[in-house]
Amino acid sequence: MMNIGEKISWDKGWDIGIKRIDFEHRIFLELIDSLRNEIVRKSKWDVISRIIREIEKYAEFHFISEENLMESIGYPQYLNHQEAHFVLLERLNIAKHKLEDLSKLVEFIYQWFIEHTLKEDIQIAEYLKEHYKGKNLTSFNCITDG
Ligand SMILES: [Fe+2]
Repeated sequence: MMNIGEKISWDKGWDIGIKRIDFEHRIFLELIDSLRNEIVRKSKWDVISRIIREIEKYAEFHFISEENLMESIGYPQYLNHQEAHFVLLERLNIAKHKLEDLSKLVEFIYQWFIEHTLKEDIQIAEYLKEHYKGKNLTSFNCITDG
């Protein structure tokens, strides 16, 4: 559980070891914190809805980033992972229309981020370490040897 009044900051335990993905995750978390902050400040709906839209678009972009990486390394769980992304976007789409409690929306996105990162994204990093050790996947700034 999170405390809506408390700033969300990055936890090192969320790094999976693929630089570009970790970088994108940090931006995603900053967006979640911006939403949290505007809700706490009781900002106008216009401000809040703009951030929700940014989160949605950023999630779409980020998922494609991960999918392109998985595709390029021949990741065997590609289709399952892609399906998980699809389900998350669907759930966000449903959640954003039930806005009677905005703090629940933040909590939902935050939980999704942590669970998906630690259960699913981490497996991409493990696959890379196992199959691409010492190789340099420059376009993804992958660390495969450390
Ligand atoms: Fe993912």
